[in-house]
Amino acid sequence: MFSYTANPARVVFGTGTIATLADEVRRLGASRVLLLGTSSLAGPVDRVADALGSLLAARFDEAAMHTPVDVTERALKVVTENDVDCVLAIGGGSTTGLAKAIALRTDLPPIIVPTTYAGSEMTPVLGETADGRKTTQTSPKVLPEVVVYDVDLTLKLPVQVSLTSGVNAMAHAVEALYSPDANPIVDQFALEAIRLLATALPRIATDPTDAHARSHALRAAWLAGTCLGSVGMALHHKLCHTLGGSFNLPHSETHTVVLPYAMAYNTTGAPDAMRRIAEALDAPDAATGVYDLIAALPVPHSLAELGFTETAITQAAEIATAKPYPNPREVTREGIEDLLRHAWAGTRPTPADGSKPDLRSLTTEVVDSFAATPDPRLRELLQDLVRTLHSYVVRTDLTQQEWEYAIGFLTRTGQISDDKRQEFILLSDTLGVSSVVDVLTNSRTPDTTPSAVLGPFYVQGPPETAQGADLAEGLPGTPLWTDVTVTDTHDTPVPDAIVDVWQSNQDGFYDVQLPDADGPVLRARFRTDTDGRLKFWTIVPSKYPIPVDGPVGGMLEAAGRHPFRAPHLHFLIAKPGFRTLVTQLFVAGGDHLDSDTVFGVKNGLIVDFAEQSGPAPDGREPEAGWRRLEFTFRVSPTH
Ligand code: BEZ
Ligand code: FE
Repeated sequence: MFSYTANPARVVFGTGTIATLADEVRRLGASRVLLLGTSSLAGPVDRVADALGSLLAARFDEAAMHTPVDVTERALKVVTENDVDCVLAIGGGSTTGLAKAIALRTDLPPIIVPTTYAGSEMTPVLGETADGRKTTQTSPKVLPEVVVYDVDLTLKLPVQVSLTSGVNAMAHAVEALYSPDANPIVDQFALEAIRLLATALPRIATDPTDAHARSHALRAAWLAGTCLGSVGMALHHKLCHTLGGSFNLPHSETHTVVLPYAMAYNTTGAPDAMRRIAEALDAPDAATGVYDLIAALPVPHSLAELGFTETAITQAAEIATAKPYPNPREVTREGIEDLLRHAWAGTRPTPADGSKPDLRSLTTEVVDSFAATPDPRLRELLQDLVRTLHSYVVRTDLTQQEWEYAIGFLTRTGQISDDKRQEFILLSDTLGVSSVVDVLTNSRTPDTTPSAVLGPFYVQGPPETAQGADLAEGLPGTPLWTDVTVTDTHDTPVPDAIVDVWQSNQDGFYDVQLPDADGPVLRARFRTDTDGRLKFWTIVPSKYPIPVDGPVGGMLEAAGRHPFRAPHLHFLIAKPGFRTLVTQLFVAGGDHLDSDTVFGVKNGLIVDFAEQSGPAPDGREPEAGWRRLEFTFRVSPTH
């Protein structure tokens, strides 16, 4: 025997469905709507307000996280003052929560338009906070009358929120399958939700505007929300509640980290549910299947990353096991401590099918061997390197032969490197690591010029050259008159800044690559004048391949990637009291701007190298025309 209680909401699903909201209001016999939203969603809320026309009685934009009762009371005043007969909420958990809180107190019918995948629109549960305390209650009175899912509204949902709230939805589906109230109806919803999310989330990670993937994820969120509203949840939800409530960890990120470990813990207690989940994921094992899915997404992967400290594990396990609750496997203090330790470290759980040996204690042993490193930063870097490398080897099931190839590759990378050739930098560049480090280090201030990688062809201390000089004296190429200014972040000119410039010749070679080059070519050091300006002649840079005769070239070829850099001019701008700016300017319309092999191109660095004819500002008149580069570099003071 089983029982299934269907929650009686009407659901409208599709693209552009917010256009139906006025009709939905009339269907309820209502005519005075209170529209709930948040300022971050002002665009869609405004559109709905327009669509409601004379049905709109009032707006309230103050919904807040955890549904504070004082906010609800302010909203209730608006309800009374405006003779409201229907509440319409657009947004995530906060606006849905407020609509439910109003419904509980007034019996007004809520219409919900969800914009995340959290699923609370499908549950009769309301959590509220008053005086800093959170209470949760379940009542059919808070269930929405109508839910309108509009895929369009989710297209702009930030990638991180989309992915973590998607995993949150998956957690509802997973735990529904081993709930004591599990039933065949909810099971079908849960398995379909897992199936849809397993393919939609990786696609959203690569293209957040993929409407098909967005539609699948939203449908999965609806199904998973129904699971959450129909049957009881277990260990995973209890743990996330503890970590959020007592340690202030962020809601959906915590769900994202914990889910594979809670599943691994429950694997032996719910073998049948796990087998069905594995099937839905098309993976040999449920817990590692979910782990591998999440490992490939740009989301947090360990409790350590969320700021949870290893020393808090004992206390968290104590709180999470203080009161008994239904779970398919007995919940023990030691078991939960072990689970949290692995979730803290982010190591891959052991597959239940025994297809891979349990390497967690080996990883922990190696991580611990660095525990006494005196320099705390060095300790963090080494321990995380071990975790990441071990996890990579385990995840990919790396073979002895592949490992030997990798060692050989790195050996060749070292052997080809010398004081002129730096293959390791090239490797870092082509893997995008240099650009990641560069962005993290240098591009945190939006009001300065974006930085770009230094590259291997910079030479220290180029010759000082007078303004107006021609770097390309006698070389073939289109003459380029360069007129740049260096300012601070308040547009005040920066005089006496040292500006190093370097570029490749028309054939795509830097001087250091040419065996016959006698001294510096297309390379100079200038100084900005009293107006922060710098003018000189050179030639328009052309695209060029990075060196491909080494192991990195082999890697690009094996991957079917081209080796070209988009045409660019390098600048290194330094002055005491300012942060040194290392950057490049790219020729608008040039080749490979969208596939630069070292991932160096940024929108703010693509510049029009405008075609010109007639005399240049210094009176020179190149016969076949010339081009002009004008740009202002903004540098920031060091303090
Ligand atoms: C360059 O722009 O000079 C460069 C940057 C990274 C790799 C190779 C070349
Ligand atoms: Fe370059």
